[in-house]
Order: sequence, then C-alpha cells, then structure tokens
Amino acid sequence: MAKKESKQKFERPSLVRGMKDILPSDAFYWNYIHNKVFKMAEDYGYSYIETPILEEKNLFVRSIGETTDIVEKEMFSFVDQGGDRLVLRPENTASVVRAYNEHGMVSQPQPVKLFYYGSMFRRERPQAGRYREFHQFGFEVLGDDQAVNDAQLILIAHNFFKELGLNTSIQINSLGNPVSRERYKKELTDFMKSKRNQLCDDCKKRLLKNPLRVLDCKNDTCNEITLDAPQIIDSLEEEDNKHFTQVLEYLDELEIPYNLNSRIIRGLDYYTRTTFEIWPEESGGTRQSELGGGGRYDGLSELLGGRPTPAAGFAVGIERAINLLREKKIHIPGQETPDIFLAQLGDVSRRRALKLFEVLRSEGFSVYESFSKDGIKPQLEIANRLNIKIALILGQKEIIDGTILLRDMESGAQEVINYQKTVSELKKRLSKVAHNNGVKIIQPGGDENEPSG
Ligand code: HAM
Repeated sequence: MAKKESKQKFERPSLVRGMKDILPSDAFYWNYIHNKVFKMAEDYGYSYIETPILEEKNLFVRSIGETTDIVEKEMFSFVDQGGDRLVLRPENTASVVRAYNEHGMVSQPQPVKLFYYGSMFRRERPQAGRYREFHQFGFEVLGDDQAVNDAQLILIAHNFFKELGLNTSIQINSLGNPVSRERYKKELTDFMKSKRNQLCDDCKKRLLKNPLRVLDCKNDTCNEITLDAPQIIDSLEEEDNKHFTQVLEYLDELEIPYNLNSRIIRGLDYYTRTTFEIWPEESGGTRQSELGGGGRYDGLSELLGGRPTPAAGFAVGIERAINLLREKKIHIPGQETPDIFLAQLGDVSRRRALKLFEVLRSEGFSVYESFSKDGIKPQLEIANRLNIKIALILGQKEIIDGTILLRDMESGAQEVINYQKTVSELKKRLSKVAHNNGVKIIQPGGDENEPSG
C-alpha cells in the first residue's frame, strides 16, 4: 500500500528553472566557439586556467561588492554540512585573482595572461538571453597597468566576434580611481537629489547605496533624468585621463570603432579606469543583449589580501554569442558530413567491420556506422540522410572473396575492391571528391595501415 502511494507522488524530474540542456543539435556551435576561443588564446599567448565552480562566498562579496545585484540577490549560496558558506561562482575574475595570489603567480614574469571557459551561475529572472547557468570565456592580464593591455583585450574581443561573422560595437568608458569615483558619486547624488521622487523604486535605493548604478537603469524615466547628469569622465584625475586617452589612441590606431558611453559603469564594483562592453551592432543596449564586458581592476588583488597587482580583462557570454549566430543565420563550419559510411550484413561481417572501423579511424577518415542495424537498406538510408558520399559494404560474399564493395552514394555505382587495398582506394576517391569541391583533405599514398584479413 505504502509502495503504491510513493509511486503516485513521484513526479518526473524536470529541468531546473533558468538552466538549459545543450543538445546534440547545437553541439557544433559549442564546439566551434570552444575551438575558436582556444585558438585565439594560443595566438595571443594566453594560458588556460580552470578554477572550481564552488568558492567561498566571501570571495565574491568582497570583490563584486556587497551592494551589487549579483551579491545582494543573485548568488546561489548555501552553508554546507561542515558549516562553510559557499557559492556557485557568479563570475570568474575574482577566482582568477584568488588563484593568482594563492599560487604565487606574482613571482612569475609579468604580466601573467590567463584565459578560462566554463559555467557561471546567477539567480536572475530567466528570460531570452538570461539564464541561471550560463557559460563565459574570459581573458585576463594580471600584473601590468599599461594601456596597451586594455586596447589589446578590446581587440581580442572585437576580433572574436568579427571572425564569427558578427558585427559588434564597443562601448567604452573610464571610471577613474576609487578616490575620484567617490567624489563623482557625491556629485551625482547631489544632482539627483531634487529628482529622487521621479526615480524607479530600485533607483531610489541605489541612490543611497550605489548611485552609479542609477546610470545604467533601463527604466525610461530614470534614463531621461540621468541624461543631463554630470559625467564620470569629467571627474577623472590627470593620470587616469592620460591612461584612457592612450587606450583610445591604440584603438584608433587599430581602427576599432568605439562609442564613448558614460553609462558603462558595469554591475561589479571592482573596476577602475577602463570599462567596456561589447554590444551587437543594432542593439539598444539592453542588459540581455550585451555580448561581453570587462575592464581594468587594479585594486582587486589587494582587496583580496594579495600584493598590489594592476590587471584588466573581459568575459563573453557564450549563449548570447550563439543566440546571435542563430538569429543572423550565420553558417558555422563544423557541420561536416562524415567521409564514409561503413555498412555490414551478417554476423561475421559485423565483426570484421568493427575492426575495419578502427583502421579507418586511425587513418584519419571520419567514418559513420550503424552496426546494430541488420539490413543494408536501412543502413544506406542513414548514409543518404547524412549526405555521405561513399559507403563501404561488407557482406558474407565479400568476406569469402577477400573484397569489399565501394558504393558511390550519388550515382549508386558499386565497385568491388580488394579488401586489403581499402585504405589506399579510399584515399584516392576522397582526394578526388575533395579536389572537385576545391579542398584538399587526404592525399593518396601512405597506405601501410591496410586492413588485414
Ligand atoms: P559580466 O558583464 O557580468 O562581466 O558578464 C560578462 C558576460 O556574461 C555578459 O556580457 C553576458 O554576455 C554574459 N552573462 C552575464 N550574465 C548572464 C546571464 N544571466 N545569462 C547569460 N549570459 C550572461 C563579468 O562577469 C566579468 N567577470 C568580466 C570581466 C572579466 N571583467 C574583467 N575581466
């Protein structure tokens, strides 16, 4: 009886709100972006770092800032069985700085250039382009305050999207140093005082706790009120101004278009000097459409108990990049069809085919099979569906004769070839197919690894 009850109560588990499955049909986007990120990192001399998904809560409270949306409302935090206050990381810059300090990277030649790729978690209100688990890749340069780093980081972000075939715009600003920023906050608060009643409820609170955030509120009224607000750029000290001018000069030199935008103050408190965001070209700059963001965070290492370490970096939201690729219907290479379909008929052939598959794979062919199918017809249907140009067919007769059938899937023509010459024959055919398509994939020859049997 009790058993029956528990059966009735069971509800099929479903996806947790705000999380997403990455399905095989999307895998080529993910692979493509993953490969591009790793290639860019190699080109620009960045080393891979992977930090844990679980971190101490304090790490982010201290670095992102107690009054930010992320820390106040969005962290998945819990106390574990041992009483430790932990969070699923909402971002990775703080973790990278923790790791830099913890592993003594300060004693390596500076700057240290690191990149990462992985899941972040923010308990935001889910909507298009905003998830509770999302993926970022990021590039960080630690141990150098030169403006050239800021410019090259922006260049990398810009190139990433350009190479994907996506047009973006760089929105850039400078927040100066903590002292001038405090002065500016006061100036901004004074300006807002008489307008306080017109602000949205969130901004009324922000005005007290974190007035800069009023500048990037998406509420139309707040937006209008801040149009005439003093601009942070006018409150920069001489050194910070010089640094910012240098960043802009480098961008001019690189012919990277940018838009000076005094509202780019970012949702994390650790920034100093340069801040920037990457927006899709036609975006109205909504928070959900922003593709990436970053800037300089010269004070973060010290804030986390390390040595003073000027640093800068950026991160890109991978789901947002993929959403845009899809929206713009950009063709992604990597949906290549396999070279060969290996079909078999009967038990002995299946065993032989299982071994032949390994020989072909080790020769660099991309082979597709459906060993669990018995008839030839369903197997060739799969080959057709996948648009595979060549099928190899191994049946009872071929096993006895020491041959294999090579079928041209387009014309349907079949040829009997010597089983032991399978590799060299395939190389000949595939180089012809490649040549006809204007690409060179596999050269004929080098057939020492022919199958035996
Ligand atoms: P962020 O602007 O908070 O910066 O996030 C970077 C990017 O992650 C965003 O531009 C967006 O594309 C993506 N993203 C953020 N939240 C979500 C979400 N809920 N769903 C989907 N995508 C999202 C940082 O995280 C800094 N750590 C960047 C940085 C690196 N600054 C210096 N170095």
